[in-house]
Amino acid sequence: MAALGGMLAAAILKVVGDQVGSLIGGQIALQMNLDKDLKKMKMALESVEAVLKVAERRSITDELTGLWLKRLKDFLYEVSDMIDEFEADTQAITQPSARKFSFKKYLAFMIPCLTIGPNITMANRMKNMRDDLKVITDQHKEFKLTDCTNANEPKVTDIRETSSTLETQIIGRTEERDIILASLSESMTKDITILPIYGIGGLGKTTLAKMVYNSSQFNEYSQVWVYVSQTFDLIKIGNSIISQLSEKENESGYTVKQMIHNSLKKLLANKKILIVLDDLWEDNISHLEDLKGMLKVGEGSKVVVIATTRNEGIAKEISTIQPYKLAPLTDDMCWSIIKQKSAFESRGDKEQLEEIGKVIAIKCAGLALAAKSLGHMLHSVKSGQWELVRDSNIWTASSSEDTSSTQVLASLKLSYSVMPSYLKLCFAYCAIFPKGHKILKDDLIHQWVSLGFSTWELGEKYISQLLGLCFLEHSKPSSSVELYDEDIILLTMHDLVHDLARSVMDEEILLVVKGNNAEESCYHYALLSDCSKPLGSDLSKIRALRFMGCDKYKLHDDAFSSAKSLRVLDLSECTIHKLAYCIGDLKQLRYLNTPRVQDTKIPDSITKLSKLIYLNLHGSPTILALPESIGEIEGLMYLDLLSCSGITKLPESFRRLQKLAHLDLSNCSSVEGISVFLESLTQLEYLDLSYCPNIGDIPEALGDLSKLQYLNLSNSSYLW
Ligand SMILES: *[C@@H]1O[C@H](CO)[C@@H](O)[C@H](O)[C@H]1NC(C)=O
Ligand SMILES: *[C@@H]1O[C@H](CO)[C@@H](O)[C@H](O)[C@H]1NC(C)=O
Ligand SMILES: *[C@@H]1O[C@H](CO)[C@@H](O)[C@H](O)[C@H]1NC(C)=O
Ligand SMILES: *[C@@H]1O[C@H](CO)[C@@H](O)[C@H](O)[C@H]1NC(C)=O
Ligand SMILES: *[C@@H]1O[C@H](CO)[C@@H](O)[C@H](O)[C@H]1NC(C)=O
Ligand SMILES: *[C@@H]1O[C@H](CO)[C@@H](O)[C@H](O)[C@H]1NC(C)=O
Ligand SMILES: *[C@@H]1O[C@H](CO)[C@@H](O)[C@H](O)[C@H]1NC(C)=O
Repeated sequence: MAALGGMLAAAILKVVGDQVGSLIGGQIALQMNLDKDLKKMKMALESVEAVLKVAERRSITDELTGLWLKRLKDFLYEVSDMIDEFEADTQAITQPSARKFSFKKYLAFMIPCLTIGPNITMANRMKNMRDDLKVITDQHKEFKLTDCTNANEPKVTDIRETSSTLETQIIGRTEERDIILASLSESMTKDITILPIYGIGGLGKTTLAKMVYNSSQFNEYSQVWVYVSQTFDLIKIGNSIISQLSEKENESGYTVKQMIHNSLKKLLANKKILIVLDDLWEDNISHLEDLKGMLKVGEGSKVVVIATTRNEGIAKEISTIQPYKLAPLTDDMCWSIIKQKSAFESRGDKEQLEEIGKVIAIKCAGLALAAKSLGHMLHSVKSGQWELVRDSNIWTASSSEDTSSTQVLASLKLSYSVMPSYLKLCFAYCAIFPKGHKILKDDLIHQWVSLGFSTWELGEKYISQLLGLCFLEHSKPSSSVELYDEDIILLTMHDLVHDLARSVMDEEILLVVKGNNAEESCYHYALLSDCSKPLGSDLSKIRALRFMGCDKYKLHDDAFSSAKSLRVLDLSECTIHKLAYCIGDLKQLRYLNTPRVQDTKIPDSITKLSKLIYLNLHGSPTILALPESIGEIEGLMYLDLLSCSGITKLPESFRRLQKLAHLDLSNCSSVEGISVFLESLTQLEYLDLSYCPNIGDIPEALGDLSKLQYLNLSNSSYLW
């Protein structure tokens, strides 16, 4: 399958465009004569944006377009890195201890330095980058992407068109059908009942709708099957219903809504009608209202509508009764489907294949479509092929020519391709967590924010959008020994959805997991040919790096030295014995999660991370002090020092952390004098000082914290 990485290009373009835009007109840009260059860059980026939508869709089927997008994406990352470096450099020049100088004076003072400094190199680099971009955009002309009409777009929807034809033997889903029939018969007293079935692509929603459609409960009903598709066209839907209900040969073909209305009014009156609206994507509320209105016109009629959709939001919007969320099939069901489709029972070697087949069934992750297509593929092939499928990463294997993986991923990809671009980035990033991982919602948002994908407030919204698409799901507590508080929200991802995320964001994130076999431990992102070696490989493109269970890894001092683009470093599931690695070189780092450090000291180099906004060191009681110059990380917004009980005193520079919004000092034995600093930390929204003895005159200090939303002083001793 063509690389999907390019399908992020538009989203990244947006992020980079905003980044460039935020500098335009700013003091630094003006002082350094860079405003023009920045504007030119922004315009160049905007000119590419226009063709990206077409290109992304086309890349689903066209490999060359996919490659072009990937090239563009790499380029955009370079621009982003350049801007970030530039900001870091100018910060370094304009900040250190020179706060007493006015910016202008300081600049004048520095002019000899500056003329050979950032603005020249920056201007040159931007010029070069514009040239590069020109080369890339010239290339795209070869693909004739400029043509924005739909004519050249692959009609993904056509091949997906459904009808009510039911396969002869359906496996499973009878319980689900009966639940739906029961809930329909309960509410059929009303003149119109709309029951949506929702869930991710490939689960078997359409099949379930067909089973309901075929049920004897609707024998007396006139029946209509409409395949709605991504292109929502009310007139087409209306005509389709009319042509299926009308006895006259050539009724339908209306082009005016009023005529459809009149015709439907006649056709629906005093009738019992079952309508299936299969594959509904439209999310515009007013369009959905129109659709509902159109079906309500018959007098004395009884209309039952089943709608299938991937989106919970749409389901809720259109329904008149509780929508039905379709769950994945069990592994056994998937195995039954594979057996059926591969004509397993008629094989001579079936005993030998039984165990292999069951493992393959698990890979379907409950998607009927996956089981069906794998079953087809395994039909009349040799047993060696079965083993190959069992051992391969079927859904993500990049060179696989077979149609099963293409079909399944293509089905999910369709949902992905219509996501707004900001959501694409946020979604794809979830591949940083391993399959089946319980993702802490807040932590995920922090990582998005660190990467510039969203703000904190938007993050909440994006989560609920992904939940609505079933691309994320609430994790059910699997055992009674859940370690987490009730108000902590855990999310998971369907396995094949995870594969999709992985195939989209394949180069910029690296997950290293401890495991028994090499494939498992290096996971998919194996830049490491041998996991037992330290990270020697080229990490220069990696933007997020996460280790799991790396207690046995010895992190070399220069472990991350090549990771110049690293924004997120997550060591949260490791115990780090020594923080000596060169984190100070990670100039772009925004997010550092490294709890349970068993060292006495945090390296001073941490204060060189001028872009850091998230620092989590919780559960490190051996650490005895924060670096004196911690205040240099002026952008720090999140600091978790829970149970860092060795820290007894905060350094003087702490008061410079004026952006701090979240501070957890809970169980930090005695952080004397914290109250003195609080008056500077005016942005604090979250403050946990529970189990902190001797924290001084808190109520006085709290007066300045107008943004505070959470405060915990339980079991701490303070003066009133
Ligand atoms: C760099 O900035 C200085 C100070 O504003 C200015 O005099 C000089 O012309 C700038 N150089 C370029 C190449 O824009
Ligand atoms: C469809 O309905 C008919 C009549 O009720 C029934 O005989 C048939 O088995 C059904 N088909 C399936 C696949 O359920
Ligand atoms: C089809 O409709 C047209 C008018 O819309 C009418 O003149 C014609 O007789 C109809 N043909 C049939 C076969 O009903
Ligand atoms: C929904 O569609 C209507 C009419 O086509 C349009 O005016 C409106 O802006 C759309 N709303 C959204 C949220 O896209
Ligand atoms: C407080 O910190 C100590 C280590 O200093 C630890 O043993 C204890 O479990 C912590 N208590 C809480 C409530 O986290
Ligand atoms: C305050 O902190 C204590 C100890 O850390 C905890 O048990 C309690 O639930 C917290 N209170 C609130 C309201 O979060
Ligand atoms: C917390 O405070 C309460 C009341 O002052 C006390 O009974 C309890 O023992 C304290 N808990 C701890 C763990 O110190």
